[in-house]
Amino acid sequence: MRDDPIVARLRAAGCVFAEQEAAFIRRHLDDPRDVERAVAGRVTGLPLEQAVGAAEFAGTTVAVADGVFVPRIRAESIIRAAVHDLPDARVAVDLGCGCGALAAVLANRLPNADVHAVDIDPAAVVVARCNGRRYGFTAHHGSWWDGLPHDLRGRVDLAVGYLPHVPSDHVLTIHPDFRSHEPLAAVDGGPDGLDHLRTVLDTMPKWLAPGGRFVTLLSAWQADQVGGRVLESDDGDAVVMFG
Ligand SMILES: C[S@@+](CC[C@H](N)C(=O)[O-])C[C@H]1O[C@@H](n2cnc3c(N)ncnc32)[C@H](O)[C@@H]1O
Repeated sequence: MRDDPIVARLRAAGCVFAEQEAAFIRRHLDDPRDVERAVAGRVTGLPLEQAVGAAEFAGTTVAVADGVFVPRIRAESIIRAAVHDLPDARVAVDLGCGCGALAAVLANRLPNADVHAVDIDPAAVVVARCNGRRYGFTAHHGSWWDGLPHDLRGRVDLAVGYLPHVPSDHVLTIHPDFRSHEPLAAVDGGPDGLDHLRTVLDTMPKWLAPGGRFVTLLSAWQADQVGGRVLESDDGDAVVMFG
């Protein structure tokens, strides 16, 4: 049987999961010109999701773009734990939202919540706003809590965030495709990876409602150092809750 031409091109470019990648491309793109653009982008090293312009995250398809962090499956555990713990949250925020994948899933799973997202990277905010219009959340530009509307102070029931938490000297261990197409600021968390978490925790008490919580994902070894309650731990990652 003749090889699927897309699979063949992806395989020749060194894509280990060529069949799955071809299926992903076809799942999200119909127009042959879009398919061609995606395959051409992928064979030159664009991460698959950026080449296609879409990512699948916790059952939701979100728009992504070159230069914006690609949502990782491992971060789905933040949502799982957060929604399980606070199913009645009325105000929910996604800190460091990137394309807004966590916010999109929160908006789907907490239909009565007012969901906001914030990122310091203007390119990420553009994509998050597009996902926000589709899924029903509002994306803001700014730094952590300070980037949120000030009338949310003291009213946030649930905050989630997949913060940059890779120690600076481990950044080179990230796959080169991602390293070349995602900003360093999306992953680099300073010498021990925890600089951003410390910043977020410093001002958190002013923003959380009574009983409010912040849920994040860290490496398991980092979770041992930061206090907080470990909700799930597996494959070297730990979901940690504060508040
Ligand atoms: C690991 S990425 C996670 C993105 C998104 N939550 C996801 O899971 O796809 C971290 C994000 O934090 C953002 N970020 C870094 N510093 C920030 C700051 N001071 N304030 C807000 N966002 C920041 C980065 O731009 C990046 O989009």
